[in-house]
Amino acid sequence: MAMDSRMPFQLVIAATPTLGIGKGGQLPDWKLPGDMAYFKELTSRTRDSARQNAVIMGRKTWESIPAKFRPLKGRLNIVLSRAFADAGARHADSENSGNAVVNQQQPPACAGKQPSALESAKERGSALAAGVLGSGSLDAALELLGSEELHDRVENVFIIGGGQVYAEALQHPDCAVVHLTQEFECDTFLPKLDPALYGIWSASQPVTGLRAGELVHVMGDAHVYANHVEPLKEQLKNAPRHFPTLKINPAKTDIDSFVFEDFEVVGYAPHATIKMKMAV
Ligand SMILES: NC(=O)c1ccc[n+]([C@@H]2O[C@H](COP(=O)([O-])OP(=O)(O)OC[C@H]3O[C@@H](n4cnc5c(N)ncnc54)[C@H](OP(=O)(O)O)[C@@H]3O)[C@@H](O)[C@H]2O)c1
Repeated sequence: MAMDSRMPFQLVIAATPTLGIGKGGQLPDWKLPGDMAYFKELTSRTRDSARQNAVIMGRKTWESIPAKFRPLKGRLNIVLSRAFADAGARHADSENSGNAVVNQQQPPACAGKQPSALESAKERGSALAAGVLGSGSLDAALELLGSEELHDRVENVFIIGGGQVYAEALQHPDCAVVHLTQEFECDTFLPKLDPALYGIWSASQPVTGLRAGELVHVMGDAHVYANHVEPLKEQLKNAPRHFPTLKINPAKTDIDSFVFEDFEVVGYAPHATIKMKMAV
């Protein structure tokens, strides 16, 4: 018999600069046009086409997803609710007494035979939608994903919110990576720059005669190590400062004639160092 094994998981979060993630049970009213597409791609993509990724979310996050978009397609949806815990451990939280999970939950149909953990989770999740798994705790969900029944069918595990679940997950030893998208609130904007009219990022270079081209910076699979989360929270408290300017002696016309003194860095004002341990 194959051994069960716990799978490390990743968190996917979008937050304001002050780490706000929700308002009135929904996402804040922000404009992150590419973020939904990024979220879908990140949480859906697998290397092995025979496997799926799992997304774990709290009951309130499930309820915040418009009905037509849930369960999230192409992913194994797992919803956490204490109402899904074993009958004896269910809590009678009056705040939740009217929620759909509690109302619709049925005891697992197990005529004489003890259902497996997966069968029970399917039975619980079926109150929400077909194919959804219901779990009574984060650890129970992770155990289920590492179980013999699921662990060869699931490639990556993503925790997708909300606040309560993130708070627990960030403290969890199996939290391997945090994907954090930050939304920057601005009240002043440039008019739309028309690339047909302006050469953006262009400047003439007297020494080489070349003109600067386009800088395209692509980050794939960007991630943050769990032990860098706290230092990064500190870093996010820093107000951004302008980048420094590199001044190059304009009198020089021969590329081989440059010396150290021909370069001057102006306006370099970094914030104090924040130490981060090397993550290996
Ligand atoms: N910005 C983002 O990246 C992002 C992502 C997702 C969600 N959100 C936002 O976050 C907000 C929702 O967050 P929230 O903190 O209110 O709720 P949540 O974490 O989505 O769900 C909380 C519920 O999940 C269940 N739960 C949580 N931890 C559990 C555990 N350890 N074991 C069993 N069940 C557990 C409980 O359900 P029961 O009450 O049924 O027991 C609890 O009431 C919304 O505004 C949403 O839009 C933002």
